[in-house]
Formats: sequence, C-alpha cells, structure tokens
Amino acid sequence: MITPIRSQRLYIGELDESLAESVHKNSLDEDNRRFVPDEVFETIDEARERIKALISFYSRKDMPLVYPVILNDGRQIGHVQAVPIEGRWEVGYHIAKQYTGRGYATEAVRAFIEPIMKWLGISRIYGICRTENIASRRVLEKCGFSLVFVGSGPYHGEKQNICRYEYEG
Ligand SMILES: CC(C)(COP(=O)(O)OP(=O)(O)OC[C@H]1O[C@@H](n2cnc3c(N)ncnc32)[C@H](O)[C@@H]1OP(=O)(O)O)[C@@H](O)C(=O)NCCC(=O)NCCS
Repeated sequence: MITPIRSQRLYIGELDESLAESVHKNSLDEDNRRFVPDEVFETIDEARERIKALISFYSRKDMPLVYPVILNDGRQIGHVQAVPIEGRWEVGYHIAKQYTGRGYATEAVRAFIEPIMKWLGISRIYGICRTENIASRRVLEKCGFSLVFVGSGPYHGEKQNICRYEYEG
C-alpha cells in the first residue's frame, strides 16, 4: 500500500524499529489485554522483534499488514491492520487507552479501508469483534460496515460470542 495516508488529524505510515518503545507502551492498556491479548508486547525487545517481522510482510499479500497510526505531531497512538483469514481479509485496529474517545479509530479506519482494499484487489473486507466490545462495534458501524453475523465463533484461538461485519467497497 502506498503510505502515508493522511486524514485531518493523523496519518498512517509504515512501521520501523524506532517505534518499538511506543508500540510496546501502547499495547499494554487494559482494553488491548482484554480484547486482543495476542497483540500485547511486554517488553520493547518483544515489540521490536514483531515489528521486524511485520516490516518483512509489507511486500506480501498473504500475511498481516500492520500500519502505525500517527498524530500530525509525530506521536504514534495505535495501528490499523488487514489480516488474511481463511481466504478473506479482516480489518483490525487499536488506539492506546489515553487517546481513545476522540474519534481517532474511526478516522483511521475510514482513511485506511479504501486504499488497503484497492491495494489488495478486494471488494469486501470483514470486521470481527467480541459482542461485548461495544467501542469496536461502534467504530465499524460508523465506518459503514454492516452487521452480518452475531453468535458463537472462533476469535483469537478461542470460542467466543462474536459479531461479524462486512464492508463492500
Ligand atoms: C476499540 C477502539 C479501537 C476504539 O478507539 P477510539 O479511538 O476510542 O474509537 P472512536 O473514538 O473512533 O469511536 C469509539 C465509539 O465507541 C463508543 N464507545 C466507547 N466505549 C463505549 C462503551 N463502553 N459503550 C458504548 N459506546 C462506547 C464511543 O462513544 C464512540 O462512539 P460515538 O462516536 O458514537 O460516541 C479502542 O478502544 C481500542 O483500541 N480497544 C482495544 C483494542 C480493540 O478492541 N480493538 C478492536 C478489536 S476487534
């Protein structure tokens, strides 16, 4: 995907190793631990190793594509991603707790969705979250996703009550 993608208050760039500390710190908040435990990096080194792997995926279309969300003043506040799952692509996002409630996730997903779909050559993308993750559901709804399934399903390796949304480009 061609980066940076700019919106009013932020831009979406590419990961580099200098972001290891902020990726580590941002990942530690309670909502991330609760809803996306496999994206918590307990140390800077752990974050750096993950970043190195993710950088190597940017040229591919069969591995997770993760992009940092950065405020115009340079602070990294979270990420957006597209992840291949069983032949489909799923959108994901995280905004660090101290920056939530200001519309940043919605702004980032809105800016990201069309360019990433175009780059992947797809016309449909999914959004899957736990039913109780109300903030995440609101983000998808505000970004134009339609709810297509509510029920029990696999989520990060466990059976959970989930919602599946779809967006058609
Ligand atoms: C989900 C997440 C990305 C939201 O980030 P954000 O920047 O606060 O999102 P926005 O400000 O764009 O929108 C959040 C919406 O949820 C609403 N919301 C937040 N918490 C809520 C709650 N407990 N109950 C009801 N609505 C809630 C907000 O009011 C807002 O909706 P509104 O604009 O209609 O008022 C962030 O909380 C996060 O990263 N959580 C942990 C990781 C995660 O769950 N990722 C998604 C995995 S599927």
